[in-house]
Amino acid sequence: MYSDTLNNTVAAMTAPGKGLLAADESTNTIKKRFDTITLESTEESRRDYREMLFTTPQISDYISGVILFEETLSQVARSGQPLAELLIAQGILPGIKVDKGLIPLNPGSAEKCTQGLDGLGQKLQQARELGARFAKWRGVYSIAHTLPSRQSIHVNAEGLARYAAICQSEGIVPIVEPEVLMDGEHDIHRCERVTTEVLAAVFNALRTHGVTLEQMILKPNMVLPGAECTVQAGPQEVAEATVRTFKRTVPAAVPGIMFLSGGQSEQAASANLNAINALNTSKPWVLSYSYGRALQAPALQTWGGRDENVTAAQTALAKRARLNSAAAVGGYRAEMEQVA
Ligand code: 13P
Repeated sequence: MYSDTLNNTVAAMTAPGKGLLAADESTNTIKKRFDTITLESTEESRRDYREMLFTTPQISDYISGVILFEETLSQVARSGQPLAELLIAQGILPGIKVDKGLIPLNPGSAEKCTQGLDGLGQKLQQARELGARFAKWRGVYSIAHTLPSRQSIHVNAEGLARYAAICQSEGIVPIVEPEVLMDGEHDIHRCERVTTEVLAAVFNALRTHGVTLEQMILKPNMVLPGAECTVQAGPQEVAEATVRTFKRTVPAAVPGIMFLSGGQSEQAASANLNAINALNTSKPWVLSYSYGRALQAPALQTWGGRDENVTAAQTALAKRARLNSAAAVGGYRAEMEQVA
């Protein structure tokens, strides 16, 4: 019923050289980000911050869609224009995070599962009326000695697939986000094995639940060593491991793989995405970005909650967006970091 709508949304999201801005931090997470600039998190400060991001000049040259937290989707800019309309007017699609966050997989468990399937269809209908054209649901996996467990891999795959099926039945493109976390001492080979197993389970579940692969976006982690691993990897090694993993697990029918940044530095997130795109091998999908921290961090620090810093903060966001846009077509160079 919604096939044309879903196809059009996917085509707009995966436009060449464009990526997504993940600005869907939950109220808890945005508070942690604001704590780093000693700014109180209120409905108004959250609105001001997001309005600053979304009114960045030329941002639509690099960003095809913005993932919003539920609160933001119905917030109104200082000018009186709803924030969602402000995006649409620039040709940027609004999307919405629809999962309700993480709870322990078992009582006392270190592993987490994602909640939010109850009432999801209705929530999506309301979001559609406010302009949302895509949604996001995040499942997380930790790597440790015996983790992730089979239960975690199974439960998260089922949740992601059921969510994706409901989205498509409501005319909303699902971003399927299985995130293997960077925390830990594991090496890149372990991350590759775990990511392979996770993606295989996710695509198996997507098939079981009847999800149309052509009408979804995958938002995965890159294949990286753990943040505490003593042997770190350069962009070439990351690109080879990442593309190999995806070629083995992600069907060519999936139109776009838009990576999360997951705690990588801004420069590493750009250099790694660039190396992935520059890799000399066949790649059937658009490979782009859906970054939160790696796009926003310099803008947040520059802004500091002060109106007089808005222009400088927007310049900082535009720079990261421009560099990641270049990386999405294999045209990023480290020297570009020197230009404001
Ligand atoms: P990061 O790029 O900061 O990992 O955020 C992306 C995201 O949307 C996590 O769900």
